[in-house]
Amino acid sequence: MRLFALSALLLLCSGTGRTLQIQCYQCEMTQDCAAPEFIVNCTVNVQDMCQKEVLVMDDGTHYRKSCASSGACLIASSGYQQFCTGKLHSVCISCCNTPLCNGPRQKRRPLLSSTSVPVPRIQLLLLLLLLLGPLC
Ligand SMILES: *[C@@H]1O[C@H](CO)[C@@H](O)[C@H](O)[C@H]1NC(C)=O
Repeated sequence: MRLFALSALLLLCSGTGRTLQIQCYQCEMTQDCAAPEFIVNCTVNVQDMCQKEVLVMDDGTHYRKSCASSGACLIASSGYQQFCTGKLHSVCISCCNTPLCNGPRQKRRPLLSSTSVPVPRIQLLLLLLLLLGPLC
């Protein structure tokens, strides 16, 4: 556990001193957008993750993608985990931290995803991020 915390802290702090900027897809539509015109530059050192929401509504599947801060994205992701059913009115929120990682159906495993990471680990990581993030 201590090792995990330490590596998480190192991971968090590894960007310190450099400007951290990633690009993400940003769109809100009924398609899993991936065209170049939807690529945006995220706010330097603030928005360190790409967020992807998939909502299953009566009129089809809606996608909402954006840059996000890791704190906000992880909170949203874990908060909506119980609603990520894949059925009607399902809401899935996933977070990832590599450029353009919120593109369509990524097979490369995301750092954190609402479907593949068990709640306790997300909450632990979230706690670490919230507690240790500002110290870095
Ligand atoms: C993002 O930043 C790069 C380099 O800083 C710039 O060339 C590009 O035009 C920017 N893209 C957008 C969509 O603002």
